[in-house]
Amino acid sequence: MKIRKAIVPIAGKGTRFLPATKEIAKEIIPIINVPMIHYIVEEAVNAGIEQIVFVTAAGKFSVEDYFDRNLELEHFLERNKKFKELELVKRIGSMVEVTSIRQKEQLGLGHAVLCAKDVIGDEPFAVLLGDDIVRNRIPAIKQLMEVSEARTGAAVIGVMEVPKSETDKYGIVKGEIIDEKTLRMTGMVEKPKPEDAPTNLATPGRYILPPEVFSVLKTIPRGAGNEYQLTDAINVLCQRREVFAYRFEGERFDTGNVHGYLEATVDFALKDPEIRDRFLTTLRERLLKNGISL
Ligand code: UTP
Repeated sequence: MKIRKAIVPIAGKGTRFLPATKEIAKEIIPIINVPMIHYIVEEAVNAGIEQIVFVTAAGKFSVEDYFDRNLELEHFLERNKKFKELELVKRIGSMVEVTSIRQKEQLGLGHAVLCAKDVIGDEPFAVLLGDDIVRNRIPAIKQLMEVSEARTGAAVIGVMEVPKSETDKYGIVKGEIIDEKTLRMTGMVEKPKPEDAPTNLATPGRYILPPEVFSVLKTIPRGAGNEYQLTDAINVLCQRREVFAYRFEGERFDTGNVHGYLEATVDFALKDPEIRDRFLTTLRERLLKNGISL
């Protein structure tokens, strides 16, 4: 069955980005001049997703507005003959069909996914977390969709290799190796110590899930942090049907924390031909002024 819909949960409080997130949605904070959420939605759209379901909370209206038309701005740009900007703004406003569901209480990622049940209906779907930007010619979520579609709608969890010493920062998958990129999962462990980690394959927020996961999410108890965890539902799913982990290709940035955000900003600037040269000059000047030699 074709995967047409993607859930993008954005109801979290973004505490690692305070004080900015006191007043603005974390997802609107830009990498240079493009909001983080733009990259996530673009990845889904480039993968062929037709409908984005945002699970939102109070104060997140700017994310919905960003993907809507802004006629006043369009008229202004037209009047001032700023046609390049006009095209850009129009394109964003008609990028994809967006639906929003409110998560009234932030009870965890599992609960956020469950909130979108009625909009998804009885079909497999994608989940993309906004904290992780993955750059690749073939979108990471598309790679997972292809694996799922080839395996009759099976659940596929996107994974990436991490240094063994860092397994305690991630959800880590376990299972039986099928080929160099695929694992038949027996379960997941949250943040295991390096010596206890079953693999070094971490889950950075890309999932293809079957609709059956909703009934599982309804029955699981609260887990880590007293929240309903998607990880717990995936563990139950592994007991009931085939779940695969797939090592996708792409460069991933953890933009949910300040360091990862800075790393992404520098990298995106270096890869942008319009910014790169001047940015390099600025970097050199700043290093010099701060007495730093590399
Ligand atoms: P995080 O645990 O990273 O939380 O959630 P956060 O609020 O985004 O950021 P910090 O940790 O406080 O800085 C992972 C993803 O799940 C969503 C978040 O919006 C984020 O995309 N989420 C989390 C929800 O939508 N609802 C929840 O109840 C919890």
